Amino acid sequence: SLGQAKYSPSFHCLQFTSRCHFTSGQSSLANRFFTLPFDSYQIEGAVDKDGRGPSIWDTFCAIPGKIAHGASGAVACDSYNRTHQDIALLKSLGATAYRFSISWSRIIPIGGRNDPVNQAGIDHYVKFVDDLLDAGITPFITLFHWDLPDGLDKRYGGLLNREEFPLDFENYARIMFKAIPKCKHWITFNEPWCSSILGYNAGYFAPGHTSDRTKSTKGDSAREPWIVGHNILVAHGRAVKTYREDFKPTQGGEIGITLNGDAVYPWDPEDPADVEACDRKIEFAISWFADPVYFGKYPDSMIKQLGDKLPTFTEEERALVQGSNDFYGMNHYTANYIKHKKGVPPEDDFLGNLETLFYSKNNECIGAETQSFWLRPNPQGFRDLINWLSKRYGYPKMYVTENGTSIKGENDMTKDQILEDDFRVKYFHDYAHAMADAVEKDGCNVRGYLGWSLMDNFEWAEGYETRFGVTFVDYENGQERFPKKSAKSMKPLFDSLIKKD
Ligand code: NOJ
Repeated sequence: SLGQAKYSPSFHCLQFTSRCHFTSGQSSLANRFFTLPFDSYQIEGAVDKDGRGPSIWDTFCAIPGKIAHGASGAVACDSYNRTHQDIALLKSLGATAYRFSISWSRIIPIGGRNDPVNQAGIDHYVKFVDDLLDAGITPFITLFHWDLPDGLDKRYGGLLNREEFPLDFENYARIMFKAIPKCKHWITFNEPWCSSILGYNAGYFAPGHTSDRTKSTKGDSAREPWIVGHNILVAHGRAVKTYREDFKPTQGGEIGITLNGDAVYPWDPEDPADVEACDRKIEFAISWFADPVYFGKYPDSMIKQLGDKLPTFTEEERALVQGSNDFYGMNHYTANYIKHKKGVPPEDDFLGNLETLFYSKNNECIGAETQSFWLRPNPQGFRDLINWLSKRYGYPKMYVTENGTSIKGENDMTKDQILEDDFRVKYFHDYAHAMADAVEKDGCNVRGYLGWSLMDNFEWAEGYETRFGVTFVDYENGQERFPKKSAKSMKPLFDSLIKKD
């Protein structure tokens, strides 16, 4: 089931304005922009600079065997020290928006609401946003992209703490809303599925808990991933309430959560059990978070399978979470075939009792083989999943906050070969067109597109083995950035979509 591990940073954003499902005669894709996103820990480096405290990822990377080749984000792309260079790069590629995350432990090094605040960390991001805006680039800020201050994990179990964690997150979020009124697009959490499942079931991500006791290093129970997911939802709800009550009226921005998930097709379309398993797969991956946000409750399929492993919302929690999205943030990479599974699922099953996941009927990649199976292209799946989500959640405003791919063995190629990334050019072309169809032909309300990623970076447990960037980073030679063919293809691609109007 580790193969299912899927997480993601981003890169180009395409903003669609005012395409509302319920208005007629308006099929315009005008005023979209593309952007290149990033997570702080994956690109910033400078982990000891300006008073930053350690995050759970610093701690996790120090455990032997956790990260490929013992790598870490200690240096990464050194972007903390190269903001001007990176903004110039964005500009040269024609990006009009940029998604990035803030490192919580730069703002509050220990993390908690009664801990000291680090003004130097705040100043860094304030200046960065000012510089982006001066360059004509719209910031999308993610508050939490997995790098929890280590102090909170040590103090009270971090994401597992139902009382403390949401309050500490709310406090941190409030500090940022106040410090950066110029930011109009806030994302609370990036891919909570990854924090919960990869961090607390698979043990593949920080803090490395596993819900199977036989694999556990910390004596966890099978409940942990579901507790973490619940606490993230409540923390999201608290931050949104704070933003809406105390900042939105004067700042006028918007706030939402970013969720990841693949598209699904039944292995045997004639078998009702496979067809049913498809919806269950999306429910366990996406609706786990989206149903509480839009409907105030967990999906029935999860309640049925997980029983009391799944926390229940108190009335106060439900009120915080229900209706808490101004937009839906969608991270998306691939599609799979789904087979139902017979019998009782194991204690630590998180897929929804599915037999297997295949990308294609013979499980082979169509076109160039990608670094991981979950990066294999299926643009129709993108369009279908946008439609699935739109139907279920009432055609909400959506931003694609991540989408991209990486090829197998890119690190073994020469620089010149890496720069000729035709497979990535095609991936973005096909996915952008599938998205445009979802808007123009199907009436979905997608307003923007952010590819993953602006440049190669620290890919979590895979270290620097995987290169997601449209820009090659020469880590060994002065961190020089070289735009790949795909980088140069983004602006023409989105310009051509705009011209279609
Ligand atoms: C999702 C995550 O948000 C990001 O951090 C990661 O690098 C990309 N996907 C690619 O795996």
